[in-house]
Amino acid sequence: MERTSRITGFYKLSLEERLRIVAEFANLTEEECTLLRNTGSLELSLADRMIENVIGVMHIPLGIALNFLINGKDYIVPMAIEEPSVVAAASNAAKIARVKGGFQASTTPPVMIGQIQLVKISDPHGAKYTILAHKEEILSKANEQDPVLVKLGGGARDLEVRVVESDLGPMVITHLLVDVRDAMGANAVNTMVEAVAPLIEKLTGGKVYLRIVSNLAVYRLARAKAVFDKEALGGEDAIEGILYAYHFAKSDPFRCATHNKGIMNGIIAVALATGNDTRALEAGAHAYAARTGKYQPLTAWEMNSDGDLVGTIELPLAVGIVGGATRSNPLARVCLKVLGVKSACELAEVMASVGLAQNLAALKALATEGIQKGHMKLHARNIAIMAGATGELIDEVAKRMVEERVIRVDKAKEILQSLLAEK
Ligand code: MEV
Repeated sequence: MERTSRITGFYKLSLEERLRIVAEFANLTEEECTLLRNTGSLELSLADRMIENVIGVMHIPLGIALNFLINGKDYIVPMAIEEPSVVAAASNAAKIARVKGGFQASTTPPVMIGQIQLVKISDPHGAKYTILAHKEEILSKANEQDPVLVKLGGGARDLEVRVVESDLGPMVITHLLVDVRDAMGANAVNTMVEAVAPLIEKLTGGKVYLRIVSNLAVYRLARAKAVFDKEALGGEDAIEGILYAYHFAKSDPFRCATHNKGIMNGIIAVALATGNDTRALEAGAHAYAARTGKYQPLTAWEMNSDGDLVGTIELPLAVGIVGGATRSNPLARVCLKVLGVKSACELAEVMASVGLAQNLAALKALATEGIQKGHMKLHARNIAIMAGATGELIDEVAKRMVEERVIRVDKAKEILQSLLAEK
């Protein structure tokens, strides 16, 4: 039978029916279907309500980063990530930061931007004036949409209007600035911008197309700083190497992308563990890094007068502790409890500190022994598992591969065969 991906009414089927179709399409074995049915602590029925066309749940390891002292408070930090070494690296860097008092972190108020795109305007600057003149009316229309948020002390606060030139002529872009309190905020903001759009059309006579949150959340910034003790870092040479690494990233976008990727390793792992929107954070972080027109590191590294290393980080972090998967995913709720944060701002402060720690760990490793040594052990274990090793054999196979400096599945299979033959 010819295979087709055009399957009508797939979304209406039961999970088992969907699974049967997928199994048939992809020739899945019964064993593979059983793997898909194992959804762990996220019940299938719950997963089925979170997204569409669900057939299972993807599991990712959840680790705990230790040693985080942030604004004088101790945190143990849940991190969901598939990459080896990230959790250990964050813990190590946080341990070094403790020597000089840990991390100082802060946030701006949790203000998000909602954009309204107005086009077909012959006098864009006149329209801008009109919109701004009706600011109070627009803000109150926005706030009518979310009395709960307003009661909690949030809500639409201000307007900005920009005239943006485009290939299709000038566009009048209104920014609705909304304090979203403890939510990530996209839903609240999107509801508000959709509600005020007709008013903006009426006031200006133009045509509104897009009404959507901006992920470049420049008013919702998180910052962290830490001093890393010279001795604990491994002395002057290590610091010199880290400074050279930082200035490499500052001067070269090819390096800078990887520098910032390392920072996001930590931030995204905490975001995933707490049920936050990882894509929004990535988009915001990289757009912020490029806001001057030149893609730049999200961290800065300097040496202070004592010869210690000072690290700082600043980036937009639109994260929530209410709403969305932060509430509907039971494990995200548990992770938030483990973390013990009382507000979205506190969560963002932890995440900024983790990002800074992650960057320090990466730069320190890169500037000294290289990152492969640390990676190899865990990587070797993964390869050993892929080669079919189980139980104690996983570590034995991994150890032999590291010793022989050959970490490949074929090598793992060879070692496994000889170990099994010996037993
Ligand atoms: C790997 O996931 C992250 C690093 O490449 C970051 C960096 O190079 O700074 C180690």
